[in-house]
Amino acid sequence: MKKNKQKYYHIITYGCQMNEHDSEKISWLLEDLGYVWTDTKENSDFIVYNTCLVRENAELKVYGQLGALKGLKRQNPDLIIALCGCMMQREEIREIILSKYKHVDIIFGTNNIHKLPQLIHRYEQTGDTIVDIIEDSREIVEDINANRMYSYKAFVNIMYGCNNFCTYCIVPYTRGREKSREPKNIINEIKELTSKGYKEITLLGQNVNSYGKTLNYNYSFAKLLREINKIEGLERIRFMTSHPKDLSDELIEAMASLDKVCEHLHLPVQSGSNKILKAMNRKYTREEYLLLIDKIRKAIPEIAISTDIIVGFPGEREEDFEETLDLVKEVRYDSAFTFLYSIREGTIAANMENQVPDEIKHNRFQKLLDTLYPIFYEKNLNYENKIVEVLVEEVSKNDPNMLTGRTRTGKLIHFKGNRELIGQLVDVRIDKIKTFTLEGCLV
Ligand code: 5AD
Ligand code: SF4
Repeated sequence: MKKNKQKYYHIITYGCQMNEHDSEKISWLLEDLGYVWTDTKENSDFIVYNTCLVRENAELKVYGQLGALKGLKRQNPDLIIALCGCMMQREEIREIILSKYKHVDIIFGTNNIHKLPQLIHRYEQTGDTIVDIIEDSREIVEDINANRMYSYKAFVNIMYGCNNFCTYCIVPYTRGREKSREPKNIINEIKELTSKGYKEITLLGQNVNSYGKTLNYNYSFAKLLREINKIEGLERIRFMTSHPKDLSDELIEAMASLDKVCEHLHLPVQSGSNKILKAMNRKYTREEYLLLIDKIRKAIPEIAISTDIIVGFPGEREEDFEETLDLVKEVRYDSAFTFLYSIREGTIAANMENQVPDEIKHNRFQKLLDTLYPIFYEKNLNYENKIVEVLVEEVSKNDPNMLTGRTRTGKLIHFKGNRELIGQLVDVRIDKIKTFTLEGCLV
């Protein structure tokens, strides 16, 4: 990088929390090179797209954005455009980028973020398009820091990759096989965060319940939680995502007994039909899932449960979809992420017959929301007049006099307060119930 002239960077992130956290690492690497964040692409000397491949719409957005960047590159030929993330792990996508979007300068993947400074150096030396991908890696790179978005809550990776091969999902093909970080590295990272005043951590992995399986010794996710729970100064532990097939009694017991583990569980069900669950390769039945929910609620009565649901998976008949609706009514979720099934080339489901027509998918999607939303509202009614602990996150986007934060159960709370409270734990009495948020007053 040339001396004297300040250079600016901008990162656009698509997809999951894993990607968000990867962007925090990229940001740290760039700032270490002297780059400074800017909010606009127009002011940037370096633009990174951290891409997602989980559904088609995330993919299409990237192509759209890249097309629009051509003009910017023409105005500023020194601008460096980099692409990374799950899309870049696929060779056929890299080929499209290299042939149709020649203004892209650097392509790297999910396994070699740490190499970015080297790649930038190589690009600056040669001016050639740099493509650097590691298909899969057993190695975990530890000495990479993150420029975290918040100063009081942080993501911490505990494992990478996924071995489950749900038939609709591209992740095992982009993030590779499952590998767990050493517990001591995780604990040290969290201790460092708490020493800086961080109060809440979210442990990240595609399937946190199978944490430890790739270590050379016996170690479980429950054990990791017990160790993290001992860390002084830490107030809240969250984690995602849990696979129902791996959620053990030991883990439920740990969640119930450890004071810092929040009363919230994200437990993706995907479908309520056994036929579809089997075709998805989820390895549990509707009945087993419901028993699990029962067990968790008995152990932790106040727990909030959220989920992921896909509608329109290949072969989903009306009666299969009805079973999803029935399951949703039986479980009574606190919140849910709902998705239209999206064909992902390279997955098993992409080649299944009986793909569901778009119109039917959309109708079912709407019906699912119509079933879910009243349940969310009714669940929220339980909070009326209750006093809840809130970690204050930020000033409300809609009203500068209001703050937002979350309860231990993950509910989003709006209340009047001074921005100095950001990052603190406060008590709020809930006086207004909505479907997606709760409102209240400081007590
Ligand atoms: N189509 C629709 N939704 C998908 N998900 C993963 N792959 C697909 C797909 N091909 C959803 C699942 C998963 C969440 C992260 O994304 O519900 O739990
Ligand atoms: Fe995808 Fe299934 Fe792995 Fe989740 S558990 S990342 S849905 S393959």
